[in-house]
Amino acid sequence: MSQPQRGRFVTFEGIEGAGKSTQMELLVQRLVDAGEPVVVTREPGGTALGEKLRGLLLDPDIGQMAAETELLLIFAARAEHLAQVIRPQLEQGAWVLCDRFTDASFAYQGAGRGLGSERVATLEGWLQGELRPDLVMILDVPVEVGLQRALARGKRDRIENEDVAFFERARSAYLERARCFPDRYRIIDGAQDLESVSTAVVRIWDEWQQAQGH
Ligand SMILES: Nc1ncnc2c1ncn2[C@@H]1O[C@H](COP(=O)(O)OP(=O)(O)OP(=O)(O)O)[C@@H](O)[C@H]1O
Ligand SMILES: [Mg+2]
Repeated sequence: MSQPQRGRFVTFEGIEGAGKSTQMELLVQRLVDAGEPVVVTREPGGTALGEKLRGLLLDPDIGQMAAETELLLIFAARAEHLAQVIRPQLEQGAWVLCDRFTDASFAYQGAGRGLGSERVATLEGWLQGELRPDLVMILDVPVEVGLQRALARGKRDRIENEDVAFFERARSAYLERARCFPDRYRIIDGAQDLESVSTAVVRIWDEWQQAQGH
């Protein structure tokens, strides 16, 4: 029996309230309707252990932790996610759509916490080898817009307790990474109304698929 073609790995990135989960859900619905094999997952999380680590990372009662601890907990969850879900599903030919991935570590821990991109890149290389998302959709919104949307949901999580400057650093890092890797990254103006954002996401998706020969 021939090996199935490796699936594609697509991630959604952006600061809190940018619209990642909303847009991912809309795109997933389209793929499911088209009968595509789709796996929907998120970070931190995506496995039983990863979701427990997510709980720790977002728990406001834990308060401050060393930036290194935060980064390593996220990569611990990611190691599990890669081993149990992402790699096996890609090998089976599925589309893996993930709400945040390693770009978020560059943005939040590398830039936001000031750990620098080299340390994140070291862990990325160690755990992921050559594996990178095939497409990264960055939903870009001004920090005030994102936070206002996110905070309307209620109680702040541990990360949402950070100040505006933290999220400004994260936003800039996302945009910088998109500039560095223009072939794999797309920036979408997430401040538009929901329908306009969704139209932009679908257009990018269709263009990208065509370019891939799908
Ligand atoms: N384009 C939009 N215009 C107005 N409101 C939006 C838009 N997109 C999403 N929202 C709303 O903003 C809130 C945050 O959206 P969503 O949960 O998709 O963001 P997110 O990027 O996943 O945030 P988080 O990082 O906190 O998970 C939700 O209540 C959602 O309904
Ligand atoms: Mg979300």
